[in-house]
Amino acid sequence: MCGIIGYSGPLEAKNILLEGLSQLEYRGYDSAGIAYFDTASTVHVVKKTGKVARLKEVSMPHHSHCGIGHTRWATHGGVDDINAHPHRAGRVTLIHNGIIENYHSLTQEFSLEDRLVSQTDSEVAAWVLDSFYDGDPKSAIKQLVERLEGSYGFCVMFDDRPGEIYGIRSVSPLVAAYTHSGALIASDLTALIPYTRNYFVVPENHIVKLTGYKISLYHMDGSPAVPETLEVNWNMDAAMKNGFPHFMLKEIHEQPEALKNTILPRVVRGLPDFTDDQIPDDLFTACAQVHVVACGTAMHAGIVAKSLMEPALRIPVTVSIASEFRYEDPLIDEKTLVIIISQSGETIDTLAALRLAKSRGSKTLAIVNVKGSTIARESHHILYTHAGPEIAVASTKAYSVQLAALYMISCRMALVRGNFSRDQAVSFLTKLLDAIPAMEAMIAQKDVEKELVTHLIQQHDTFFMGRGLDYAFSLEGALKLKEISYIHAEAYAAGELKHGTIALVAPGVPVIAIATQEHVFSKTISNVREVKARGAFVILLTKEHKDIEDGLADIHIRIPDLDDRFTVFPIAVILQLIAYYASIGKNLDVDQPRNLAKSVTVE
Ligand code: F6R
Repeated sequence: MCGIIGYSGPLEAKNILLEGLSQLEYRGYDSAGIAYFDTASTVHVVKKTGKVARLKEVSMPHHSHCGIGHTRWATHGGVDDINAHPHRAGRVTLIHNGIIENYHSLTQEFSLEDRLVSQTDSEVAAWVLDSFYDGDPKSAIKQLVERLEGSYGFCVMFDDRPGEIYGIRSVSPLVAAYTHSGALIASDLTALIPYTRNYFVVPENHIVKLTGYKISLYHMDGSPAVPETLEVNWNMDAAMKNGFPHFMLKEIHEQPEALKNTILPRVVRGLPDFTDDQIPDDLFTACAQVHVVACGTAMHAGIVAKSLMEPALRIPVTVSIASEFRYEDPLIDEKTLVIIISQSGETIDTLAALRLAKSRGSKTLAIVNVKGSTIARESHHILYTHAGPEIAVASTKAYSVQLAALYMISCRMALVRGNFSRDQAVSFLTKLLDAIPAMEAMIAQKDVEKELVTHLIQQHDTFFMGRGLDYAFSLEGALKLKEISYIHAEAYAAGELKHGTIALVAPGVPVIAIATQEHVFSKTISNVREVKARGAFVILLTKEHKDIEDGLADIHIRIPDLDDRFTVFPIAVILQLIAYYASIGKNLDVDQPRNLAKSVTVE
């Protein structure tokens, strides 16, 4: 949450900061602001409630070569210009991503009550830093962080240090790069890739200093440290809309390619092979149970994996919501393989879950999209998905590649544990690859979803239902619809609906029924009859060859006849498109829905 950027160099800093904030806006869009030194070394702060576009309208007459910028997702204090970042405190100008948990006690201890103008925890940190500042930035920063509890990524400028920016982080991400255009620091790579492919992740407990001609990294005692340079594996095009009206639609279209990029480099002689990922087979043979932990869409991918893995592996597979897991006393031990799933690799609850799992002696395998992210660096093993940057707040292609990674893990585990013969494993992988053209076919017929939403968008509620794997898919369909169309949606195991929820099914209420699982098909269809009998508007999703009695479905969408285990891939596309067109139909902000932000780095 919150996007951060800092720049020092020969170019016009304001332009670089404002463009960078546009790239970072998906991290939060309640307000935006920049602070910069003008050529006379005076600091100017400009901040505005609303999106970066509003900030860009403000006249900023001075020239500048050094500054910091922030786009906010509000945690402490309402959405207004005063609570927007940057914050000024004495000689300090600061931007912050994260939460300072002890800001109340710091306010009292440093007698800040009368000085604070905002309601933010960030301003408290700025004043505490100012109180420690005696001309030595590194020493002041060291003293500040010794007093802080919580998570933070800070960029700081000191009035008497024109041209210099200092960065420090704990949990919240910060990446930095020295480029031909100058020195840059940001909360994520999207702001850096217009300038460079080489960058480094600012390590925790280190201070980074940017000037117009170099970047220096220091340990907390002030001694120099050497950054570990990484290379980004996607380019600027990947972070642009490329002719699509929205990132979400572009990312839906990118799914077949993303799947190929994730699967194909890991296929050796028709089998999943993780040698290049340095994931040994004994990780899979030594475990007695699997525990999957994630949040939101990533957690829904985990639920699909449970339904897939348990019958194949015949060992317990548990799925936990990371924000619950981290405060529980989970039944995991050194015989547990904990699979952590995160697109961003920065979700704070998922990271805490990873740390808890490690502390219990479990082996951890992280499925992560963002290279070098905190979860990727801390997990024992990593399986990178290769979806490229996902910019739309609603996750689409990241979900599909997470599933692909889980399917490959499941297949490799079944093979090395003796649940699958070699032929069964080859056949499984072939069927996984067959799901890609099935997704392409669903993308090609997207007008079906475009038309069907006309009924949906007039309703307040929608129900999704299915059994087994179809229920797992429903959970994600409901989340997608809620988050970008603001239509209330709930997913139900089809047989459970009549234990209460069916009371809400009145004439015209949309029910999206998913019936792709052969062994429960007739049961699900019976449940569809039950809702139809109560007047529901039924949108039914089945495989191609299924005959359905007239009048049962108001709209019937057919997917190719895949093996039951792989229907999630075309079904995901349909559910994503329903949500997308519902959002468009209601004239909402598809890519940046209200109250949300990409990468949830606060609890
Ligand atoms: C929904 C969505 C979120 C994320 C969740 C986890 O469309 O994007 O539910 O899936 O916040 O994020 P990551 O995968 O980055 O840990």
